[in-house]
Parts: sequence; structure tokens; C-alpha cells
Amino acid sequence: MAGKGLEGVVVGQSRLSDINGEVGELIYAGYDIDDLARNTTFEEVCYLLWNGELPNREQLDGFKRELAANARLSDEMLAVLRTLPRDADPMAALRTAVSALGTFDPKADEITDAEVRRKALYLTAVTPTLVAAYDRLRNGNEPLQPKEGKSVASNFLYMLNGEEPNDTRCRTMDVALVLHAEHAMNASTFAARVTAGTLSDVYSCITSAIGTLKGPSHGGANVEVMNMLREIDESGQDPAAWVHGALEGGKKVMGFGHRVYRATDPRATVLRELADKIMAEAGETRWLDLSDKIRAAMADEMEKRGKKIYPNVDFFSASVYTTLGIPMDLFTAVFAIARTPGWTAHLLEQYADNRLIRPSSEYVGPRGKKVVPIDQR
Ligand code: ACO
Repeated sequence: MAGKGLEGVVVGQSRLSDINGEVGELIYAGYDIDDLARNTTFEEVCYLLWNGELPNREQLDGFKRELAANARLSDEMLAVLRTLPRDADPMAALRTAVSALGTFDPKADEITDAEVRRKALYLTAVTPTLVAAYDRLRNGNEPLQPKEGKSVASNFLYMLNGEEPNDTRCRTMDVALVLHAEHAMNASTFAARVTAGTLSDVYSCITSAIGTLKGPSHGGANVEVMNMLREIDESGQDPAAWVHGALEGGKKVMGFGHRVYRATDPRATVLRELADKIMAEAGETRWLDLSDKIRAAMADEMEKRGKKIYPNVDFFSASVYTTLGIPMDLFTAVFAIARTPGWTAHLLEQYADNRLIRPSSEYVGPRGKKVVPIDQR
């Protein structure tokens, strides 16, 4: 029988990404994540995931125009968002909205390669608009439509905060999206592929993925990091003492450790650099200073305990998103925005070479029982 949680089980082949946890390496379609994060944009990475190669200038320009043309919300979808309660979890709102999008698409059930590509592009383009629109509505503001000629990252921050971000903020958001776009057979990707395996439609697959990402053991860890930073900040405690106390009490320190990485998560390295830049520019380095103290304390404690536990991507994304003006309860929805190209790229692979995903279970219940008539039970 496979280990609990399917750990180590290879469930299929993919050309999209690979992780070497021992050395802290992540590649998307052959390219190192560090190279992609420093030298490409989210739009180029979407193209790479769906086409296997980076676009040239002409291909990228056309692709960006297509994304922009699909980013606007229809009146019907705005009406759906308006009916949602203002205190709904943003991930629940997004899950409901993506499901509703499918009901308005007359070709929702078509899963030809061309149709899956069309929906991959549509969902990637429109998800940031949905997330920002719901946030504005719940705060009593009118949703904003995306601006023409702007990137996904720029438009998302504009639609959320009501003002166009400067270059540093825009690039920071863009890199954060690149870093979260794809991550091999994680739980939400697996959920999407299981749904596709039944030949169900793309909207159902992404709804499954969003529901899976919503869980605190998957997409929600950076929220816990921010809670931790706030707790330490408000308590006025020495961060090293706080970390020591937490570990002595058997608690996990959020933003550290990973099932796959046994070295620093390469995404954390890039985000740390971005955090430095954006926080210095904002003149607010409180969260980064605190994060660095926690990181140093953890390095000390883990060395003493002989454990290979390093910062993961969530450790720095929490303070970066906060500096970008993204509310804490929207962090997981931002993850969903970034991961939509990865999920949909997996759908292209799954539909292209499908077999129903249907594992077995080991029965450990009783056998041979006889039904006793109801009045005698
Ligand atoms: N703080 C303190 N100790 C830790 C931490 C941590 N964050 N993570 C692992 N450890 C300890 C474990 O308690 C375990 O100790 P033991 O050997 O004495 O029992 C040892 O290190 C080894 O743990 P692993 O086997 O590596 O942990 P596992 O693979 O089961 O869990 C997980 C990985 C869930 C990510 C864990 O490290 C954790 O809970 N981290 C905090 C939450 C977090 O940041 N999650 C985000 C992950 S990244 C992402 O999903 C995008």
C-alpha cells in the first residue's frame, strides 16, 4: 500500500515542472525558477506553461492582447458577485464565481485542445478581476475594470487598490505570480487532474482546484505567517525568545519547512530580495526586520536540533503582500490567480492523454455481517 497521503507516489508524467528538494531547485519546462523570476514576466511564464517554449516578442505582444481582451467582467458575473455575502471568505467567493463562469459559457463542456486553451487564457485573465471586484464590493466600493495595455500584475493591483502601482510594486507582484505559477503534483493540481480525468469540464476542474487550495495546509500558510508576525510585533517579545518558546512548546514556526524541499525554497530567496526593495521604498521595513530576526533564530535553533528546516516561499510572501496593500484574507486568492496557468497547463496534459484516475483503498472494516430486521436492532 502507498504511504499515507500518497507521499512519494508518482501518479503520472508531466513536462511542466520539476522539484529537486535536496538542493532547492525548481524548474518550469526546463528553465530554472530563479532565471525565470529575474528575466521573464508572468505573461511569458503563462505562455511557456501552455506552449512549452517562451514566446518571441511578436508572440508575446499578441498573447498579451488576448489576455487583456479576456480580463473584463461581464454584467452577469458582476451581478453574481453582488449577490454574495460581504463577509464570505474570498476563496469561497472565487470558487463560486469560477463555477458560475462555466454556466455562462455555452461551450463549457467542450474539452478539445483549442477549447481548453481558450478557457485557460480566459480564466487566467479574468480571475484577478474577480478577486479584486469581490474585495471592492465587500468594502462598499464599485468594482473597477482592467486598463488596456497593462500587465496582469499591474491591473490586479490597480483594480484592488484603485491606483496604478509604480514600477517596483508592479514588478514585485509580477515576480510573485511567476514564483507561484506551477509546482508539480501538489494537492490542488492533483484535484484538478482528477476532475479532468472524468472528462468533466475546465470550470469544474478549476473549481475543484480552488476548493483544494483553500485549505490551510495548502494555500493558507502565508496567512499564518502574517498572524505570527503580528503576534510577535504586538507582544513586544524578543523574536528569538518567541521562536525558542514556540519550538520548546512543540509548535511549528510558520513559513518554515516543506514536504519536498530539504534546502531553502528557491522561491523564498527571490522573494526576500524583492521584499527588501519594496519595503525600503515604502519606508516600512518592520515586517522584513522581524522576518530576518525570526529566520536567524530558526537557523540557530535548527542547527542545535540537527534539523534541515529552512524558510519556504510563504515566509516572505506574507510581508510582501501586506506591503503591496493586499489584505491578509486575500493571500490565498492571490495564490489562485498565480496558479491558474499551472492548473490549466496540467489540464491540457491530462485531457491529451487521459485515463480515469481511480486509485484503490485497502478495506479495513468488518466482513460477513448479516442484516438484522429493523425492529430487532
Ligand atoms: N517549525 C518547527 N519545526 C518544524 C517545522 C516548522 N515550521 N517544520 C518541520 N518541523 C520539524 C517537524 O516537527 C519534524 O520534527 P521531528 O522530526 O522532531 O518530529 C521535523 O522538523 C521534520 O519535519 P518534516 O518531516 O520535514 O515535516 P513534514 O514534511 O511533515 O511537513 C510542512 C512539512 C507541513 C510544510 C511543515 O514543515 C510545516 O508545517 N511548516 C509550517 C507551515 C508552512 O509554512 N507551510 C507552507 C509550506 S509551503 C507551501 O505550501 C506553498
